[in-house]
Amino acid sequence: MSNWHQQQSKDPYLKMRDAKGYRSRASFKLEQVLNKNKFIKNGNRIIELGSSPGGWSQVLAKVNSKGINIACDLLLMPPVNGVNFIQGDFLDSEIQATIKAIIHPELADTIISDMAPNLSGDVSVDQYRAIAMWEMVLEFAEQILNPGGNLLIKVFQGVGFDDFLKAMRSKFQSVKSLKPDASKKSSREVYLLGTNFKV
Ligand SMILES: C[S@@+](CC[C@H](N)C(=O)[O-])C[C@H]1O[C@@H](n2cnc3c(N)ncnc32)[C@H](O)[C@@H]1O
Repeated sequence: MSNWHQQQSKDPYLKMRDAKGYRSRASFKLEQVLNKNKFIKNGNRIIELGSSPGGWSQVLAKVNSKGINIACDLLLMPPVNGVNFIQGDFLDSEIQATIKAIIHPELADTIISDMAPNLSGDVSVDQYRAIAMWEMVLEFAEQILNPGGNLLIKVFQGVGFDDFLKAMRSKFQSVKSLKPDASKKSSREVYLLGTNFKV
């Protein structure tokens, strides 16, 4: 058996994923973040970026069943009941305008982003692409979040992390760095949760 297959067979989240009917093991990362941080109220307007194949969307559809859930991804996502999906590149201003138009004239309560750029094989190129993406998400959040709103965003430790954390701190009253148990220890990913958007 290859190393990859051995690791997969030991991963408890893969079995749980199948048992719960989730589309990805990533669902557990969001569940764990939400269990410890109660920043979503059922009835909120939530924008999810980088949603395919739909693991987080499935969680959102449960915790925000009375609200509005808008999900966006470059890749097609099979429908999730209760989630309004837009296929397209979030970095494209027309896609951002489409998302805004759906909730207009209201603002969003929460943005969650699990986006990561496609890997090029060059770690520093990937990190700079990721930083550009985080900055774009923060800029979008500034345009569309309600005062008091929240942003949960996947980032990667390394170059640019400290500067982005500082930028988040200037926009939110509280910023926490979270590493849910389902996020692999070997991964540089962490989730920054900014709550109470300052305007
Ligand atoms: C880690 S996956 C998300 C998994 C998802 N949270 C789940 O639970 O199923 C990251 C996603 O970000 C998407 N993505 C990357 N760049 C994007 C962009 N510029 N616009 C929209 N989606 C993007 C990818 O297509 C990919 O599906």
